[in-house]
Amino acid sequence: MRGAAPTRIGTRAEISEKDTSARPGMPSSRPLAGAVEPARVRGGGWVDSSCERSGGTRAEDRRTRADLGNRPDRRYGFAIADEGEQMDRNIRTVEDVLKLMDGLFAPDADRWTPAGGSDWWDRFYADRSKPVPFFAAKPDESLASYLDRGLIAPGRALDLGCGPGRNALHLAARGFQVDAVDLSPSAIAWAEERARGAAGDLRFHCGDAFDLAATGLTGPYDLVYDSGCFHHLPPHRRVSYLDLLDRLLAPGGHLALTCFAAGAMGSELPDAAFYRDSRLHGGLAYSADSLRWIFSDLTECELRPMRDEPAESPYFGEGFLWAALFRRGAN
Ligand SMILES: C[S@@+](CC[C@H](N)C(=O)[O-])C[C@H]1O[C@@H](n2cnc3c(N)ncnc32)[C@H](O)[C@@H]1O
Repeated sequence: MRGAAPTRIGTRAEISEKDTSARPGMPSSRPLAGAVEPARVRGGGWVDSSCERSGGTRAEDRRTRADLGNRPDRRYGFAIADEGEQMDRNIRTVEDVLKLMDGLFAPDADRWTPAGGSDWWDRFYADRSKPVPFFAAKPDESLASYLDRGLIAPGRALDLGCGPGRNALHLAARGFQVDAVDLSPSAIAWAEERARGAAGDLRFHCGDAFDLAATGLTGPYDLVYDSGCFHHLPPHRRVSYLDLLDRLLAPGGHLALTCFAAGAMGSELPDAAFYRDSRLHGGLAYSADSLRWIFSDLTECELRPMRDEPAESPYFGEGFLWAALFRRGAN
């Protein structure tokens, strides 16, 4: 048992021979000891107090051991909480785990939750005159092309992270019944201004696309459209994204996605590094194969670099983005 007191513990050399997971300063799969007794320190994990460990000092280790005195937790090596840290046992569901993982990121790195992301995006949209390519009220060239080639046909559409609504407006003008959702009240206010007087069936919703129960949106949708939201999600939120598709995408419906293309834009760090760094470094790059893997429950219709569109074009297009169209099976 992990927390039980060992009767005899080998030397560090013996342990490292037997237990390859034992590394100085890192939690081991079992107690590490030898010349010194193991101590369970703040934050958990057995450490050999002769080792340096990150985030603490030897003095703290000594105080921890002294505080424990002769109590049973001294012998069994239970962790004690930091000052101000409350014990909780709140994890019950996958969503609880995902929320806990959201919290591993620095607050100022958050671009995807109502808690941090909506303020960040509000500030981003505050100056509408900034030369941000997607501030122009033009649809994606890829969206126009899917429509012109008949790859997608009017039905119900959900625009995820719609921003100021340029693609939602185009979808509505082309006969879709559109729900468009964004975290940022400023983006939604801007989108609603643009939609005033426009023809078509279009509703904007301010909220978290992954908490659709809160926004009152229900599927099924024939098209889920996402231009530039997916690459701002941390890796674990792909689980929420795929769950959203499972729940809301109609059989035979399409996912159309534009996102940062590896080699051209976005961070190419491995997934785990974002948790180590507590930030997403401006957004995640995806390779074509990584998109195929992530959306492997869907069928690929088209996956190509977006066409670069000149400033005078009626369409938005940047070559550093993928334009991907996937279809859900018809059953
Ligand atoms: C790069 S912007 C793209 C905006 C818009 N799709 C466009 O292309 O003009 C990404 C948008 O995703 C939104 N977003 C990020 N996380 C979200 C979430 N969990 N729910 C809803 N919107 C989200 C942001 O508020 C932001 O407006």
